[in-house]
Amino acid sequence: MYFSGFYPMHLALLVVGDNPMPIAWWTPVSREPFRFLLAMDRRNWSLGLLREKREAALHFFDFADAERVVRAGHASGARVDKAERLGLVMRPAERLASARIVEGARCAFELAVVRELDEPEGDHVPFVCDVVHVHRGERSENVEPILFLGFHDFATVGPRTRISPPLRGRRRNRRRRETAPVAGGETPSA
Ligand SMILES: Cc1cc2nc3c(=O)[nH]c(=O)nc-3n(C[C@H](O)[C@H](O)[C@H](O)COP(=O)(O)O)c2cc1C
Repeated sequence: MYFSGFYPMHLALLVVGDNPMPIAWWTPVSREPFRFLLAMDRRNWSLGLLREKREAALHFFDFADAERVVRAGHASGARVDKAERLGLVMRPAERLASARIVEGARCAFELAVVRELDEPEGDHVPFVCDVVHVHRGERSENVEPILFLGFHDFATVGPRTRISPPLRGRRRNRRRRETAPVAGGETPSA
């Protein structure tokens, strides 16, 4: 049944304690409170770490750093010190006790686990996490994210375009917002 037609995924680097691993299966799930969901493979050493420490740091690197990010997924922290092997420079987080922040990320989110979802059949375990601190970095128009295409293939963005809603729609939305909040009525903004 599984079909990867929903790729590409925006690849991030998750650090639990001082152990880094690339993660493609993550998503924002709430703006207020600000929350992410992480899907953690049961075979990863990071799963036990995440259950024990209940915190992690989700980093976004530019495409230029793709090699180091991806190689963190070619070994397990159970056997090697991946941060040392990959030459990642780490510093303490602002709000987390154990998770480290990797130098050079475009931005990073410090996460505290809210709950592990009950998903006994899945090969990945979903964790809902609160964002407790944001390392914003510099905001650039020309971000070059690491896009995971599946298998061993990666890319970054090509041509860009901006697609704005029609003016009338925008006015109508504004009027609706002024009267009553509409659940799920908006395209999430950046
Ligand atoms: C491109 C890429 C994407 C990955 N995405 C995920 C993911 O979304 N979730 C996950 O649990 N593992 C994912 N992995 C696998 C882990 O990163 C990999 O198993 C890693 O070595 C686990 O490290 P650990 O044993 O130190 O925890 C991905 C690996 C690669 C190379």
